[in-house]
Parts: sequence; C-alpha cells; structure tokens
Amino acid sequence: MSDTFATRVIRWQREHGRHALPWQNTTDPYRIWLSEIMLQQTQVATVLPYYERFLQRYPSVAQLAAAPLDEVMSLWAGLGYYTRARNLHACARMVVAEHGGEFPRSADALAELPGIGRSTAAAIAAFAWGERAAILDGNVRRVLARHEGIAGDPTTSAVQRQLWTAAEALLPQLEHETDAHAAMVRYTQGLMDLGATVCTRGMPACERCPLAATCVALREARQLELPGKRQRRHSPERRIHWLWLRASNHTLLERRPASGIWGGLWSLPELSQPPGLADVQALGIKLNPAETPIPLPPVQHTFTHFRLVATPWQAQGEVTATADDSRYMWVADANLVDAPLPTPVRNLLLTDNAGDDDVSS
Ligand code: ADE
Repeated sequence: MSDTFATRVIRWQREHGRHALPWQNTTDPYRIWLSEIMLQQTQVATVLPYYERFLQRYPSVAQLAAAPLDEVMSLWAGLGYYTRARNLHACARMVVAEHGGEFPRSADALAELPGIGRSTAAAIAAFAWGERAAILDGNVRRVLARHEGIAGDPTTSAVQRQLWTAAEALLPQLEHETDAHAAMVRYTQGLMDLGATVCTRGMPACERCPLAATCVALREARQLELPGKRQRRHSPERRIHWLWLRASNHTLLERRPASGIWGGLWSLPELSQPPGLADVQALGIKLNPAETPIPLPPVQHTFTHFRLVATPWQAQGEVTATADDSRYMWVADANLVDAPLPTPVRNLLLTDNAGDDDVSS
C-alpha cells in the first residue's frame, strides 16, 4: 500500500521541516498559544523577538493576566493587528478567572476563548496534547486546495466547508502509533512547514514536495490557479487629519478609544477637517502657538476593510497649561520610542518616514 497523505507529511517534516523554532519542543500550552496568536497574521522572523520579549516579561499566563493592558499593548506595538493583543490579554484573564490558570484541555474548549479560532485551537491542542484536531490556516488552505483540487474563493463558506472536510479526512490514523502525540505534532507542524517552504504562493517547489504523486493541482498544472482568488472587496478610503503638536521637545498624543482601530494605543489627535488654531485650542490645551499648523505628505495605511489616508499637520508652540484630560499626554521625544504607537504613527514620529503602507486589521 502506498503511503498515506499524513505518513508522507510526517516523514517529510522529520527530514526537511523546521525543528528549532522557540515554540517547538515544548508542550506548555501557554508558550504554544502565545506563538500561535503572534503567528496568526505575522511571519516567523517578525514574531521571534516579540515572542522572546513577551516570555521574558510574562513567564506564565498568570503574569500576563495580571499585567495592565497598556503595558501589553506597548510590548505588542509594531506587530500589527492589535485586536490580537487585546484578545490575548482577555484570554489570559479568562484562563485565570474561569479555568484556574490552566488552559482547557481540548480544541473545542480552547475555541471558546477570545482570539482563538478553530484552526488556532486545533494547533494548540495538537502541539500541547497530541489531540487529533485539524488545522486550516492560510498556508494549509493553499496546500489542501491544491492537493485536493478545491477551486473557488477560499473565504466563502461553501469552499471553507470543503477545505475543513478535507482537513479532517486527511488527519493521521493514530491507532497503531506508538507515540500518537509526537505524530500529531509532526503532522501539524509538517503541514505548516510545507505551506511556508514548499507549497508557496508564487512558485511552488513541486519537485521537492512529498505530496506531488497525488496532487491534483500538479497533475493538471493548476498550481497557480489554486486556491481560487478571493473576490475583491471594494476597499473604501477614509481621509483624516492628524494634529502633530510639538512643544519643548514633547509631542502631544491622544489615546484611541478602546474599541475601533488601534484601540487603546496612543496616536496623534485625530480630526475630520484640516485643523486651524481654533482646533488646537478646542483640544482643551492652552498652547501658545508660534505658527499655524502646516500639512505634511499624507500617510497611508491599509486595513482589512478600508484604506486610511492621514494628513499630519505640524505645529510648534510653547505649552503654558494642559487641560486635565487623561485622553491626552505630552510625551518627551526621548520616550516616544517606548510609547504604544500604531506602526504608521511610529514611523512618522520616529523616522519622519511618511507614506507607510502595511496592512493590519
Ligand atoms: N505559523 C503558525 N503556527 C506556526 C508554527 N507553529 N510554526 C511556524 N509557523 C507557524
């Protein structure tokens, strides 16, 4: 009998997969969960330093739960998709408050926690306990759509259903495994590794693929057609204005509302119209402006559902008094580097590098 799909993935992982990532070779659900959340929309190389910093600061889920959200957001700043950081914190608190500080021991129960979807829950359960649970992240979706020849927009529920069905059907049979946990770890990591290193989007290396003999896309030369294209959603543009007030080597920051984009981070005060002197005063800050605000080139930032185009307006002045409003904070230039700033604001304030255009939710 020829090798099954799972057998080939497992053998390939042993010989060619990644083995030295810092979240591998542990069964600690806290470490595994933290890595899976960080890796949800972010590449391994970007995650590595953040992962080490988080573990150093919060060696356990209880320590993360006890931390103030502001501190967690600060440590997360730069990783993007900030909803993940808020959910991370909420999840840690829930594990402590409702599960006695231990992650619940099944994929189904994990998927009830904030920020843990079906695929992330399965990955944690497979890595931590060897649960026979199917993953389907972006990379694995590509592997399965190609191998099984599943066409159509993979974000639609009909195609999702087919992909999940395939993911479940292809799981290893563990009855005769002497170490079923190790097999599930290898299989799960192997699928991720194949998607990241062999079955890549632009130029899949089919000659190195352990699944080539049974791959529908390869047989029919449809690798670049599969998975199908996402229907392009119309992405509206939102134009806003930022007031960039500087005084005595300090910059005025405004805390974003807890919900909505960049919730809880500190940004520049946002206005829907170009600011005039009246706006500066209306902020409740007594400022003695030496000049009216002048515009800088707009900063662009793409979110999942819209594109933000923000024009920064710079003004210098002397602060005479600051209204007692906890929404605003004057931050010394030397301390800006440690502030929980959204990435495009960080680029603007710290590098004068307007025009940033990376993607986050
Ligand atoms: N992406 C998501 N989970 C991952 C993991 N465990 N290793 C590498 N990349 C990943």
